Amino acid sequence: MTTPLDNQRKIVFLKDFISRDRYLKSALETQRFAADIASQVPAGTVFALVGDLGTGKTTFAQGFADGLGVTEHVGSPTFKLVSEYQGNELMLYHVDCYRINHPQDFLNIGGENYLYPEDGVTLIEWADRIDTILPAEVITLEFFRVPGKPNERKIVFPGETV
Ligand SMILES: Nc1ncnc2c1ncn2[C@@H]1O[C@H](COP(=O)(O)OP(=O)(O)OP(=O)(O)O)[C@@H](O)[C@H]1O
Ligand SMILES: [Mg+2]
Repeated sequence: MTTPLDNQRKIVFLKDFISRDRYLKSALETQRFAADIASQVPAGTVFALVGDLGTGKTTFAQGFADGLGVTEHVGSPTFKLVSEYQGNELMLYHVDCYRINHPQDFLNIGGENYLYPEDGVTLIEWADRIDTILPAEVITLEFFRVPGKPNERKIVFPGETV
């Protein structure tokens, strides 16, 4: 069971990696950044990845998977909703809520299990679609394009749970 203290530790740890506005100058940089985080997160962590189409959420997930030691190719789970991958020590649950119109739809397909992963980490793209059912200790990352810089993205860690 994750306690508020565990969550505090996770957020303190993440603040070492992410200042309020983090600029990533290429897809590879975004992947390396994600891999760095992944190599140190504890089981049970849930990330809400929020941002418009093409802002780098799946790219982040690919780097994150790499950091967990996943060897399988990580794609976009939009049509499957959830993809599961085995890492070295942790499972990766990659969820995409783009096609979810109501949080209840997510629960109806057994989504709750992924909100409290005991043996791994969950990344949820378009998590804002199910914000009313996200666990209190979810870690939100917001993804943005950078005007005039097609290969740059900004990732913001608001530092608050949603
Ligand atoms: N700095 C960067 N960080 C991440 N991706 C970048 C960056 N620069 C360019 N890109 C490109 O932007 C695209 C991001 O696509 P990606 O599928 O990761 O976005 P997404 O947020 O998951 O979109 P969707 O909401 O459709 O799932 C990729 O083609 C990637 O190569
Ligand atoms: Mg995506």
